[in-house]
Amino acid sequence: MNIDLPTSFNLKLEDFGDHFVWGVSTAAYQTEGAHDDDGKGPSIWDAFTLKKRTIYKNQHGEIACDFYNKFKEDILLMKSMNIKNFRFSLSWSRLIPDGLGAINPKGIDFYNQVIDFCIECDITPWVTLYHWDLPLALEQQGGWTNRTILDWFENYVKLCAQQFGDRVKHWMVLNEPMVFTGAGYFLGVHAPGKKRLKNFLPAVHHAVLCQALGGRVLRHFIPDSIIGTTFSCSQITPYSNSTKDILAAKKADALLNRLFIEPALGLGYPTDDVPVLKRIENYFISGDDQLPLFDFDFIGIQNYTREVVKHSCYVPYISAKIIKASKRNVKTTLMDWEVYPSSIYEMIKRFNSYSGIKKIIITENGAAFTDVVENGSVHDQERLDYLQAYLKQVHKAKLEGLNVDGYFAWTFTDNFEWAEGYRPRFGLVYIDFATQKRIVKSSGEWLRGFLKDQT
Ligand code: BGC
Repeated sequence: MNIDLPTSFNLKLEDFGDHFVWGVSTAAYQTEGAHDDDGKGPSIWDAFTLKKRTIYKNQHGEIACDFYNKFKEDILLMKSMNIKNFRFSLSWSRLIPDGLGAINPKGIDFYNQVIDFCIECDITPWVTLYHWDLPLALEQQGGWTNRTILDWFENYVKLCAQQFGDRVKHWMVLNEPMVFTGAGYFLGVHAPGKKRLKNFLPAVHHAVLCQALGGRVLRHFIPDSIIGTTFSCSQITPYSNSTKDILAAKKADALLNRLFIEPALGLGYPTDDVPVLKRIENYFISGDDQLPLFDFDFIGIQNYTREVVKHSCYVPYISAKIIKASKRNVKTTLMDWEVYPSSIYEMIKRFNSYSGIKKIIITENGAAFTDVVENGSVHDQERLDYLQAYLKQVHKAKLEGLNVDGYFAWTFTDNFEWAEGYRPRFGLVYIDFATQKRIVKSSGEWLRGFLKDQT
């Protein structure tokens, strides 16, 4: 195996420049718990996790990391680790239990407390509006497949902007729309568990429209805010040099890396490489060629691995399939994702090649490995190696003058990893879920030291 992992990491904070932003990322459903406390309505993830055999060991996020009750402890821990930027998401159904009607004052109060406590601790809140937990009541009306979601989303974003915009100046509209539409509305492995093109295509189009709409609403209500949105992205390598595999890789790249950014930049959907996407036009109404456009202040890119893609005539629409890392004799994480640090560099380079992008921030990067508690400590050398190897690649991009201005690790504490339940641990901080006790892992201790001279 030929892996570019560092034997030593000798970069210093200042090597990344004075204005480079360092932080950690989390998401509401994965951490908060308190799934029906204080008036919160159910989300699609509350419902999806109740269905048997959808999630590893039928686990769910009803308690998760209990961040709802332990947010002060967690933010204080963050502060003690010299982390100055905290990216978290708002739960739509905690704020508006049925998605579009009455507001839940206790939900507003909770996020006010989180935001105020961050500021008190000198931590800048970076807020994601939508990290996959749609209110169930809206899904019962078609969710992302129903165009009325534009009205529901506008109403929700307006509320968030009006309630929190006086203190929150860093916003992200959507988290990884390709994942929530692909896994949730095509493959059916994430909530709401829908399948087929007839669900996927309208969900994609409406997410593209909401991505820009959310940006416009934020800019209107908080003119001095810094507005971004985030994308999952992975370097795609053809399995062989055959024309067929190269073509398959191109198609996968269009779907996984270009589908959501290009419409926002005015480039439209990548229909040349994936002709089936032309069918999205069935969901267009007049004006829809302009509505996806928004001039984001930054683009958040989230990278974990690379994908190797091979031609396959059995895969409908794209004739391309991903070859699992476990079949390729490469170093993998617990998610069976290949450890491939230069993928993050390639993605930074790729997003730099779009002239319409003003600023790029890595809003997620991290890895799940088996963690063992020994004498009260967790020595997660593999995670530390992973983070350092990827950071070296971010630094390489910076040295070459590429635009990349921040890095948020995924994630602060271990949490609920969607369909994989609690098995994969991505945290810098270990959680014993039986007692909710936190232990800073070696990777977290390293970050604490690395960030100690932050001004
Ligand atoms: C998501 C996170 C997730 C992480 C690791 C990203 O796709 O934004 O919610 O936990 O990757 O899978």
